[in-house]
Amino acid sequence: MAIIEARGLARDFTSRKRTVHAVRGVDITVADGEIVGFLGPNGAGKTTTLRMLTTLLRPTAGTATVAGADLLGDPLGVRKRIGFVPQAIGQTQGGTSDNSLVIEELLDQGTAYRVGREETRRRAAALIDQLDLGGLDQRYVKTLSGGQRRRLEIALGLVHQPQVVFLDEPTTGLDPQSRSNMWEHIRRLRSELGTTIFLTTHYLDEADALCDRLFVIDHGVIVAVGTPDELKRRVSGDVVTLSVNGAANRGATAEAKSLLAVSPVVREVIVADGALRLTVEHGEEALPVLLRTLDGAGITMSAISLSRPTLDDVFLTLTGRSLRDDSPGGAGHDGTGDEPELAGAGASAGGQAATAGTAGTVGTAGTAGTAGKE
Ligand SMILES: Nc1ncnc2c1ncn2[C@@H]1O[C@H](COP(=O)(O)OP(=O)(O)OP(=O)(O)O)[C@@H](O)[C@H]1O
Ligand SMILES: [Mg+2]
Repeated sequence: MAIIEARGLARDFTSRKRTVHAVRGVDITVADGEIVGFLGPNGAGKTTTLRMLTTLLRPTAGTATVAGADLLGDPLGVRKRIGFVPQAIGQTQGGTSDNSLVIEELLDQGTAYRVGREETRRRAAALIDQLDLGGLDQRYVKTLSGGQRRRLEIALGLVHQPQVVFLDEPTTGLDPQSRSNMWEHIRRLRSELGTTIFLTTHYLDEADALCDRLFVIDHGVIVAVGTPDELKRRVSGDVVTLSVNGAANRGATAEAKSLLAVSPVVREVIVADGALRLTVEHGEEALPVLLRTLDGAGITMSAISLSRPTLDDVFLTLTGRSLRDDSPGGAGHDGTGDEPELAGAGASAGGQAATAGTAGTVGTAGTAGTAGKE
């Protein structure tokens, strides 16, 4: 059953006589209990889409139902059933107020959603524990570090145990330990409460490790949908690199090349730096076949490795831009409607490591994410 179903959702922004087509008619279907990632470079339209789906921004066109309620006809119904954690704005964060105690914020949130006091206390205690906020409940929000505050915001989005949770870059700014705790927490939400999670991220490893399915968005258009593996497979197949024993012996390498070139599991074979580089459809299935072929011809190898395309390769192929980018803070919305620049666009796809893309973040853009404001 689809818990999020959006058709032709679009949003334009017009300022200073210029119109930005931030989101250009996206279709999104998310099944109950899925963890879905929304992946795209700065300015792609992720936050705008999320703010439309959470009723904070009125679509220019399109329709959607979220958790059984119609986005336009019953926005209150949508709000009751969802949780939303807005994108952090630099060091200051979205939904918390400076001069409250951590515990007050959590209790107030429960009250706002009509969760009983005792039940809220119980849930708050569990969230404090699970999100590593232990010992901070009597602290003022303004005294929290950026990462602690981020975790509090996420706790606030979860206190009322919504059916669907929207998280806009939940782990940006968290240390590696907190990030992996957050992943654990998100997984547990789904496994224990059946919560559907829709999150945006720039972290390719996060998308890969956490999400059942990914939507890749660029310039307001969804350019690909699939599981992380499906997307990676779409790009280029796996790559097997192998060196023939006595690489100086070009004859053996050439012989191996001509043998393998006709193997049904090999799509392409080239010689690079004295080693053979084979493109194959499915690495795990191809490896034993390749080994048997070489063995049968009496050719021995000195090294063999298998690497898979990373999500960054996928991204590069789909959008011509790399998601991997080290530049600090993306462009904020200055109201001019200017397209935020993707600094470092076209950066190299990076190492074809066997593991999926290393964390590559493009920093946090100054997207207005404060709940309730337009
Ligand atoms: N309030 C606004 N006024 C004018 N333009 C806006 C406004 N909000 C967003 N935009 C523009 O819409 C486009 C999409 O922005 P959006 O915030 O959805 O991107 P994003 O994918 O969330 O990017 P990031 O990764 O930087 O958070 C951008 O070109 C942005 O400048
Ligand atoms: Mg954003």
